[in-house]
Amino acid sequence: MKPVHASTILGVGHHVPSKVVTNHDLAKIMNTSDEWIQQRTGIKERRYIERSGIGASDLAVPASQMALEHAGLAAKDIDAIIFATLSPDHNFPGSGCFLGDKLGLHGVPALDVRNQCTGFLYGLSIADAWVRSGVYRNVLLVGAEVHSTGIELADRGRDVAVLFGDGAGAAIIGPATAEGQGIKPIHLHADGSGAKELWVEAPASAYDPRLTKEMLDEGRHFPSMNGKQVFRWAVEKMPEVAKQALESAQLTADQIDLFVPHQANLRINQMVCAKLGIPEAKAVANIERYGNTTAATIPLGLSEAWREGRCARGSNVLFAAFGSGFTWGACAVTL
Ligand code: UT7
Repeated sequence: MKPVHASTILGVGHHVPSKVVTNHDLAKIMNTSDEWIQQRTGIKERRYIERSGIGASDLAVPASQMALEHAGLAAKDIDAIIFATLSPDHNFPGSGCFLGDKLGLHGVPALDVRNQCTGFLYGLSIADAWVRSGVYRNVLLVGAEVHSTGIELADRGRDVAVLFGDGAGAAIIGPATAEGQGIKPIHLHADGSGAKELWVEAPASAYDPRLTKEMLDEGRHFPSMNGKQVFRWAVEKMPEVAKQALESAQLTADQIDLFVPHQANLRINQMVCAKLGIPEAKAVANIERYGNTTAATIPLGLSEAWREGRCARGSNVLFAAFGSGFTWGACAVTL
């Protein structure tokens, strides 16, 4: 294949499980309240998988099929898979391999990306480079998470447990066809000095044995977070990197038709909008219904917004994310 001048998003799709879990439902099993969760985060409900046996790759199947249909392509047109998740179906192999099998894509390369809330943007940068350089023509990029089986649904884990939900989003990245269309420069960052501020400690190859009964008793296999610290970094880094992305795209904030920020906390995104000078009406906010679906939030948000007519071909869209790692990133796309 020959290099192309730009890549773009040819289609998007999403899928969430049918089981709705409200804040009131959580308040029945842990010491929390609808008022606390809504005031601090904006979340009212989230989705959980209906039963054991459904992994991130299973949620990714309908999301991928919807994205293919949106792009006017069939599964056989996919040349490579990139799967962003922090909750892979199994420790190895990557969820991309499971997804490829479920889509009947035998022999198509599959790469897993482990960059948490910024996973979709890290994946997008790889897909963009592959398409532009002519390595692959159509790349299926997925962000999908099953959090509900990995959080501690009890008083001890309440600070983290109330935040996360299950869901998937998918995008097909391929050659841009129209003048001006395409993915603009993607800005990515990481600072591992914050790695332990939001992490799952075990099972760990750094420990022998990787998992003990003691670790399980202490809940070290559940995510732990220094919420205040993560919040502080997010409200500083998301606007900073979004400004870098706007500048290199040669776009101003008022030229952005739709802002799709990562959905970790409604308050974070309100502060980010204010710092960027983007009206909240132009920002996707579906955290109320889904909570934080980590690598899925951006493709899920874009897919819903596109179907609601909040963006269309030719629209200028801005993405920004911050999360565990710490990792953060942003980019603009002219659809
Ligand atoms: O996508 C990954 C990136 N993640 C983020 O960006 C999350 C960033 N951080 C946040 O969004 C906020 O820090 C949280 C929403 C997680 C927490 O809000 P906060 O205002 O920072 O609350 P806090 O952690 O300081 O906790 C305040 C109080 C504490 O009680 P005391 O010490 O004041 O008595 C907590 O024990 O709220 C208590 N608390 C809860 N109460 C009811 C913590 N979790 C809960 C809960 N329900 N679920």
